[in-house]
Amino acid sequence: MSSFVRNQWYVAAYGSEIGRGLFARTILGEPLVFYRTAAGEVAALADRCVHRRFPLSESPSRLADDKIICGYHGFTYDRTGTCVSVPGQTRVPRTARVPAYPVVEQDSFVWVWIGDAGLADPALIPRAPWLADPRYTTVSGLEPLRARYLLLVDNLMDLSHETYLHGGYIGTPEVAETPITTEVDEDRGIIYVSRHMDDAACPSFYAKSTGIDGRITRWQDIEYHPPCLYLLHSRIAPVGVLPHEDGTDPDGFHVEVVYAITPETEHSTHDFWAVARDFALEDQGVSDFLAESNRTVVLQDVAALDVLEEVIQREPEGYQELSVNIDTGGLAARRILSRMAGTPVKVAR
Ligand code: FES
Ligand SMILES: [Fe+2]
Repeated sequence: MSSFVRNQWYVAAYGSEIGRGLFARTILGEPLVFYRTAAGEVAALADRCVHRRFPLSESPSRLADDKIICGYHGFTYDRTGTCVSVPGQTRVPRTARVPAYPVVEQDSFVWVWIGDAGLADPALIPRAPWLADPRYTTVSGLEPLRARYLLLVDNLMDLSHETYLHGGYIGTPEVAETPITTEVDEDRGIIYVSRHMDDAACPSFYAKSTGIDGRITRWQDIEYHPPCLYLLHSRIAPVGVLPHEDGTDPDGFHVEVVYAITPETEHSTHDFWAVARDFALEDQGVSDFLAESNRTVVLQDVAALDVLEEVIQREPEGYQELSVNIDTGGLAARRILSRMAGTPVKVAR
């Protein structure tokens, strides 16, 4: 039974990945081909020719006048997926078309709707406005994960693992020691997990980027919009420095960490990550440091989750996990995802 949640928007790519060439990416098991039209809009079609299923993204398939010409026998498709020309005859069969997918470009991401195209409402796309806001500087990346998406959801909903898996980068003892609070907005299907540390060691990730050299007040406020978008609002300040009563926070350092969790197949995931900051905006050294450190942290997670995926695939059915307080957010996420999928989503076999 698939654990995919269909009829949802997913991040397919960064806008910067898609240009005037043919770009292939599999999402929820569906092979797609993307390109940018001459007018600058992103189009997405099923990546299989209706004739003999040659991938439309595969050379020598090519783009001409915003249409894809299949590289095998030349069936030609417009951006709606309609076949407008076939070789050797003037009449194009009425059924000659491939599915076109609704696409929206927003907050530096290309979002694609997987499911019934008639239900695609752009207003449902959750926002990550920092990524395209000039008041922030953003570094970002995309790592292939050879593990099911539920393992990445689990990983991100509980940050106490920072202390162990990411010690020396973003983890300090206080992260694992400090209890979390979890809230679920049942109507909107959003999960919030917060951990506020009043007096914590400053990990190198933040010491080097902010210049703070003493202990810090460190807040981590997670906001997960299942299935795809995960936001971590991170606030760092010298110990005791709090936001002003009017809500402004000129002495705090703010980092918005964004993940897009897009299933590729049942056992692999596109792990998009971005780190937006509201300080040292022009400092390329800080950008390089945050990009390198965050990628290292993401790859530590990827390595651990790749191992877990192999373990799960080898284990007998019915393995029972043991959950504790730190898992409250992850369990809430599984519950909401199950509701959205219309079937229980399970990590174990
Ligand atoms: S497979 Fe595409 S034209 Fe034949
Ligand atoms: Fe992690």
